[in-house]
Amino acid sequence: MILVVGGAGYIGSHLVKELVEKEEVVVLDNLTTGHEEAIDSRAIFVKGDLGKEEDLEPIFSKYPIKAVMHFAAFSLVGESVQDPYKYYENNVANTLTLLKMMLKHKVENFIFSSTAATYGIPEDEMISESSKTSPINPYGKSKLMIEQILADFHQAYGLNYVVLRYFNAAGAHESGEIGENHDPETHLIPIILQHLLGAREAISVFGTDYPTEDGTCIRDYIHVTDLAGAHIKALEALLDGSKKAETYNLGNGVGYSVKEVIETCEKITEKNANVIYADRRAGDPARLIASSNKIYEELGWKAERDLEKIIASAWNWHKK
Ligand code: UFG
Repeated sequence: MILVVGGAGYIGSHLVKELVEKEEVVVLDNLTTGHEEAIDSRAIFVKGDLGKEEDLEPIFSKYPIKAVMHFAAFSLVGESVQDPYKYYENNVANTLTLLKMMLKHKVENFIFSSTAATYGIPEDEMISESSKTSPINPYGKSKLMIEQILADFHQAYGLNYVVLRYFNAAGAHESGEIGENHDPETHLIPIILQHLLGAREAISVFGTDYPTEDGTCIRDYIHVTDLAGAHIKALEALLDGSKKAETYNLGNGVGYSVKEVIETCEKITEKNANVIYADRRAGDPARLIASSNKIYEELGWKAERDLEKIIASAWNWHKK
């Protein structure tokens, strides 16, 4: 049995849909941002908080949990600057409670959703796991704190872990049943698609004077189903004992500017966007592109879906 904390959220629900094909799954989610209907019906669902021992205790007592995957974090860079307490409380303190209960119940395997935001403003063109981590916002700091805690817990208590640093997750499940569904939505691709469906008047491009080819920010977009696949590889490596304490980047290795993303959305949807060029958004690095060579070499994972596939799958879901 695998415990997926945050399995009703965007990335968690996509992982659960793949994982139920291989393992028994119990999902813990408090539904503050997740959607119960997004949880695959083959998983057991428990409504509760990862920060409450009384919610965790019955799960660890009842089920033979082999590993925990943790997706239940707040993840908006801008919000974390405005309200850092919210981020440190949930992403750090509540995660510590989850880890404490894992230790108590001798659950030794943990997969942690981390982020490219741990790198801050990167010095390297292609970011590798050994690139310097220097987060520039409370969100990235909260994730890096847990990474450091995991390294210490591995040494002291023998807790095994894989940290996965996601770049820009996007896209929707190929079934069209689940997709990216945030409220409010702040992410670029769903905002563009909502606009092209008529639900927003225009798209604002945040900043046109970055030191990039067309002046807009460059990101490495990765399909959420590719992310799910990496989690399954990481889980297998923890369960067979071949990995005990690892950190991997998850990206496509290709960067697209905001303008290029808009153009690709226009091409796929055959619609024209109304674009407003606006000021920079606080906390945005100019360029984030992953090298995912390490996980390819060690676990044989690489992203299979490019930007067009990502947008096509998201469009398929948004249209519904
Ligand atoms: N952008 C716009 N207009 C919008 C929305 C976004 O121009 O309406 C721009 C942003 O300024 C940025 C790019 O599009 O340059 C991507 O923005 P997103 O909000 O989609 O994603 P972020 O790169 O800010 O952050 C995402 C996750 C973080 C994670 C990060 C890692 O939300 O949790 O990817 O790369 F840390």
